[in-house]
Amino acid sequence: MAKPQHDLVVVANRLPVDLRLGEDGSATWKRAPGGLVTALAPLMQSNEGAWVGWTGTADLAIDPFDDDGIWMVPVSLSDKEIKEYYEGFSNDTLWPLYHDVIAAPAFHREWWETYKEVNEHFASMADYAAAEGATVWIQDYQLQLVPQLLRAARPDLRIGYFHHIPFPPLEIYSQLPWRKQVIEGLLGADLVGFQRNGDAANFLRCVRRLTDHTTSGQQIDIDDSEDRLVRRARAAAFPISIDSGRFNKLAKTPEVRARAQAIREELGNPECVLLGVDRLDYTKGILHRIKAFGEVLQMEEIDPAKVTLIQVASPSRENVDAYQQLREDVEIQVGRINGEFGGIGHAVINYLHHSYPMEEMAALYLAADVMLVTSLRDGMNLVAKEYVAARSDDRGVLVLSEFTGAAEELHGALLINPHDIEGTKAQILKAVKMPVAEQRRRMRRLRRRVLTDDVAKWSNTYLATLSDVVTSQPERVDT
Ligand code: F6P
Repeated sequence: MAKPQHDLVVVANRLPVDLRLGEDGSATWKRAPGGLVTALAPLMQSNEGAWVGWTGTADLAIDPFDDDGIWMVPVSLSDKEIKEYYEGFSNDTLWPLYHDVIAAPAFHREWWETYKEVNEHFASMADYAAAEGATVWIQDYQLQLVPQLLRAARPDLRIGYFHHIPFPPLEIYSQLPWRKQVIEGLLGADLVGFQRNGDAANFLRCVRRLTDHTTSGQQIDIDDSEDRLVRRARAAAFPISIDSGRFNKLAKTPEVRARAQAIREELGNPECVLLGVDRLDYTKGILHRIKAFGEVLQMEEIDPAKVTLIQVASPSRENVDAYQQLREDVEIQVGRINGEFGGIGHAVINYLHHSYPMEEMAALYLAADVMLVTSLRDGMNLVAKEYVAARSDDRGVLVLSEFTGAAEELHGALLINPHDIEGTKAQILKAVKMPVAEQRRRMRRLRRRVLTDDVAKWSNTYLATLSDVVTSQPERVDT
């Protein structure tokens, strides 16, 4: 069989399609409504694009297939690989380490070995899919070794990497026993993209301190063993966004507006609806949020009978201990506050351990007077942007943790330090009581930003910069 020839290859931990198994065992795929795939779809369709990723199921070996113009290249992972590469090294080592060690990272040598093997597997699939001179765009912390592995096999490729989560300061990153290997892995890319300037600066400092490469501003000189410059890589910030136009449009449809109304009615038409939407993850500060909300109710400044907090906590990484523990803690705390402040037929916290389709999310955003984003550390936080994109009525207040990437862009939000419970309570009260004129003023400012800087602009900017890095290599570079 002829080798596939794709000019644009995305490599991500997951494929952007969900598997649906029919009763007869037949497999069908449904496009997952992620921002990244939406942004890249037109480009991939016109560039014979391929997407290399895991199916989300153990031991599912499936041949590549076309999904609406994108060639899907499934990577099969065994039970052991899921346990050690995905749940282990990615989500129990790197995830807590890169999120300011909010939970303790576990360092296990077997997990590292499996992480390396799985990264090799992804790299070989990308090698197989990429045409001569193709652009390969690797996504996120699960695949940090792929850039270097791929460059070794295919020096003809243009290689990009984007890091969706925070990159920690040197003092934290240095705990990783394989810190040098991971940095070298990332430096296989021509362009290493981050969410914030601070993440890029952290990375550049790690490069300087943990490797022999020299940096100058955003540039990193990659030398060979005889100190000859081989090529020049770049590390810079490209804050990701959402398909804001789509959310904006969706939230204006009569169906979504009617559903938003119905949600408020189902809640008993409270005067104020607050909303939290997160994966059930300890980085999201859900316990801090619930504690602050409970204490606001205790202050007797607002009547518990007239407010409701809807907390959507979608199931995530349920085989990892820290996530199981968090679920227990959240559920105990929700029960405690509902027991104390709820009444018959009225829970002050409506806790929903589910995921919802985009239409229902848009209705929830429209139904919420106050959106609470209280992350302790968050690469970007797209929920904050979705809330803003949905509010074409210019109403609603966004309370936003300063520890999110979004806080650097979303001027107009009420910023909080979620560790400061008193400060958080004051901002929640301010949000609940904010006059409509101020809501409008703030929301308009937020919307200008979110509607202008959408995910298509993000991917275009990233890919244009990648092209610039590759075409502007200095003369003396010998590749
Ligand atoms: O934010 C990082 C990220 O990996 C996202 O890309 C993803 O949507 C989310 O976390 C959930 O990740 P998982 O694939 O572990 O369910």
